[in-house]
Amino acid sequence: MTFEQWTRLVLERVETALERYLPAETTEPAKLHEAMRYAVLGGGKRVRPLLCHAAGELTGARAECLDAAAAALEMIHVYSLVHDDMPCMDDDALRRGKPTVHVKYDEATALLVGDALQSQAFVVLTSDVLGAPQQASLVRELALASGSIGMCGGQAIDLASVGHTLTRPQLETMHRMKTGALLRAAVRMGALAGETPDEPALASLDAYAAAVGLAFQVVDDILDVTTDSATLGKTAGKDAKDGKPTYVSIIGLDASRALAAQLRSDAHAALAPFGARAQRLAELADLVVNRVS
Ligand code: IPE
Ligand code: IPE
Ligand code: MG
Ligand code: MG
Ligand code: MG
Repeated sequence: MTFEQWTRLVLERVETALERYLPAETTEPAKLHEAMRYAVLGGGKRVRPLLCHAAGELTGARAECLDAAAAALEMIHVYSLVHDDMPCMDDDALRRGKPTVHVKYDEATALLVGDALQSQAFVVLTSDVLGAPQQASLVRELALASGSIGMCGGQAIDLASVGHTLTRPQLETMHRMKTGALLRAAVRMGALAGETPDEPALASLDAYAAAVGLAFQVVDDILDVTTDSATLGKTAGKDAKDGKPTYVSIIGLDASRALAAQLRSDAHAALAPFGARAQRLAELADLVVNRVS
């Protein structure tokens, strides 16, 4: 199977799982459920679900288990985007080529969509498809990655840094927390949904995920200055306008590109112990670094 064929199959599974795991639009309160579905369905690159499936295939996880883990990851990710776009954070009007949730609906709805998606992620992770020990370990991974020592913490640093110059280590910490933590969780949760990997294997996957996670936000920073809004599906040039510290603002465009390339080879190197079994993860590292949106 080619990478494109594999990607298409996984994306179809993920879309079906998200559709199934989200409350129906007709379930009351209908406006909230409609807005949750508006935010989640039919958009986005689904990078976290793809990483989750690829890591799970490596450890022999059942596809249904990976669908649940992937759906939970995407729900947390979308919640973070809905809140990130609100006027109290980045104040963005465009996301995934559509009006953001607070623009299409209103701010209170956007707040609740994020809150409810976060809760729903944990409902999904504790569904019967996963065994009790797996439920516990996956819940812990996702909660740690998305909380104050992960995504939320990174977002707090991001907002507190507006208009300030961060040192490169400070910038790296912010990126690892706000974006890297959830991407790392995607890899770990996929792996843990199968045969529990031994310590060296988990360490290799962690090294891979650390490189891909940081690369993802470095590329996001690059695309903000090099790509137009129509291609991105979100407002380009927003970081500089808002005075956000980014890799581009701190080390420049060329050095940022070189760093992304370096992180891509670090990711490949970390997969060496798995040989050909890690092909999908290797291809996903390429996708993260070479993407155009
Ligand atoms: C955007 O994430 C926000 C960051 C964490 C950089 P994605 O680039 O994965 O957004 P979608 O899911 O494809 O819309
Ligand atoms: C957002 O980073 C990270 C999270 C949502 C956790 P950005 O603010 O750079 O994301 P975009 O560029 O709006 O997608
Ligand atoms: Mg932001
Ligand atoms: Mg933003
Ligand atoms: Mg950005």
